[in-house]
Amino acid sequence: MVKLIFLGPPGAGKGTQASRIADFYQVPHISTGDILRNNVAQKSPLGLQAKEYMDKGELVPDQLILDMVEERLKQNDAQNGWILDGFPRNVTQADFVEKLLSASKNGNDTREEKAEIINSLMVINLQVPDKVLVSRLLSRGRQDDNEETITNRLKVYHQQTEPLIEFYKERQQLVTIDGNNSVDAVTNYLKQAIR
Ligand code: AP5
Repeated sequence: MVKLIFLGPPGAGKGTQASRIADFYQVPHISTGDILRNNVAQKSPLGLQAKEYMDKGELVPDQLILDMVEERLKQNDAQNGWILDGFPRNVTQADFVEKLLSASKNGNDTREEKAEIINSLMVINLQVPDKVLVSRLLSRGRQDDNEETITNRLKVYHQQTEPLIEFYKERQQLVTIDGNNSVDAVTNYLKQAIR
């Protein structure tokens, strides 16, 4: 069962690659950024609360994000695997994924079975230099792709999300891919790396 997390700074190509790999494995591509942007567009209560954080390039508070992800992962299409793009983004969110994965269906899983479930997770770290990221984002031009917000998104990434590289390295779940290549080349590296 494919359970993948795409980790990486803004503009690394998480969304681009997650969508291709999700098509390839026929599993849902779950992007917290996309779900939040849909909520903002619909002016839902979640969207109204999330917008001010997204516009500044800050993380949306965990209590809003965790419920949203838990709900999404309960849906039928996510029962045979998924690709998470942009989640987790800090240690609290990573602990939450671990808790979700180790939650037994019947409460009777042995310690070994729980360890196996956690081990089925693979985390892809897409690495791209900051200079390349900024130029990619400025030429895309999404609502939060202005110089000020990009600078803050990168700062937030380095402070809050980058520590997850060590978190997943310790758990031997991390695979680092050089994302500073053509889109097709990165997809090929990914297909080779995903077991
Ligand atoms: P989110 O939507 O996740 O944005 P992000 O992490 O800043 O990532 P991007 O979508 O900008 O980049 P990407 O790595 O997906 O690259 P992409 O494929 O799009 O989050 C937005 C906001 O929502 C956050 O700031 C936060 O406020 C909130 N949020 C989301 N998740 C949250 C969470 N878990 N907790 C709290 N808050 C959360 O590519 C970027 C561009 O580069 C595109 O134009 C693409 O065509 C191009 N490109 C891609 N690959 C290549 C390549 N190989 N070569 C050349 N160009 C490329």
